[in-house]
Amino acid sequence: MATSSDKTVLVTGGAGYIGSQCCKLLAANGYTPVCYDDFSNGRRDFVRFGPLVEGDVRDAERLRSAIDEYRPAAAMHFAAKIEVEESVREPLLYYDVNVGGTIALAKACREGGIRHLIFSSTAAVYGETTDHQVGLTTPAKPINPYGQSKLTAEQILGDYAASTDVGVTIFRYFNASGADPDGELGIKFRHATHLVPRLVMAAEEKKPFFIFGTDYPTPDGTCIRDYIHVWDLASAHVAALDKPVNHGHTRTYNVGIGRGYSVREVIESVERVTGTKLEIIEKPRRAGDAASLIAGDTEKTRTDLDWSPLYPKIDDIVRDGFGWYRVVNRKCSIATSI
Ligand code: UFG
Repeated sequence: MATSSDKTVLVTGGAGYIGSQCCKLLAANGYTPVCYDDFSNGRRDFVRFGPLVEGDVRDAERLRSAIDEYRPAAAMHFAAKIEVEESVREPLLYYDVNVGGTIALAKACREGGIRHLIFSSTAAVYGETTDHQVGLTTPAKPINPYGQSKLTAEQILGDYAASTDVGVTIFRYFNASGADPDGELGIKFRHATHLVPRLVMAAEEKKPFFIFGTDYPTPDGTCIRDYIHVWDLASAHVAALDKPVNHGHTRTYNVGIGRGYSVREVIESVERVTGTKLEIIEKPRRAGDAASLIAGDTEKTRTDLDWSPLYPKIDDIVRDGFGWYRVVNRKCSIATSI
């Protein structure tokens, strides 16, 4: 058996929104990212930073053969179903992909000698909370199948780490937003459900924007979220490789800024950045939404990993999301696939 390469990383979901940015940053830092993706949501033209293995994340044998071929020392696990509302409609699919995929990867990692697994979790594990900021001691009580599927996967990985010599890093992402500052990678706009891309589209296409819920117990009645630039999320992953977890242990971090913005505040940011006044239509609440989710314990993430976000301001996030929209819509061949 060939020995692992410290500079090779298996990236499931490497053709997706966050995974592709991570592959880019890994390559920029001298790593070889091996992208493992089934293109159910990812884009082929985002695989440009290392080799590709096409496969379903639930397929442990395929994962194992990718590990045998490339001998990565670490794995980053992005491949997942990620829409809150869809998870309420299709819970079994969410448990199948998010829990089943994690088990398959964990098994392949153990068999293939990978010693560090970095897991993409989510602030949705916290559910509805009255805490102003959600710290790591805030009880995890998900209110939708998406959050529950990620929490279950976290718990499985915790047990798994304790019974093996694999170390696990869990990142609970708050609201990943924006795009690669170079304008090379970004989110899909077609069927976008997330706030920033939908606002950018509304501004650029002169279409009305729907606010889902204006009767939340927040200062302006709209939901509050902690928006983290996707490039900063990627840099947290690379920082975790540089400061690896002890084998057989699990560590969990919140990845957010520690500051929240309401939907109305993000609307104001989009109006500032795009110079467009939006037409706003107030709609009822969307299923599964928590009133407020702001990251706590972000100091621990910064200190332990020697990491700090480069783009903490909402206007920076919106600016890069807007820039990506412009890139996409200048290139017809890409625009048709988005
Ligand atoms: N929203 C609107 N109109 C839209 C789209 C969104 O009002 O057209 C509102 C939502 O109702 C919510 C807020 O904008 O109040 C943010 O919604 P997103 O869909 O952008 O993000 P979510 O908070 O639902 O979910 C995201 C990730 C999850 C993660 C969560 C953590 O998708 O993985 O952030 O905060 F768990």
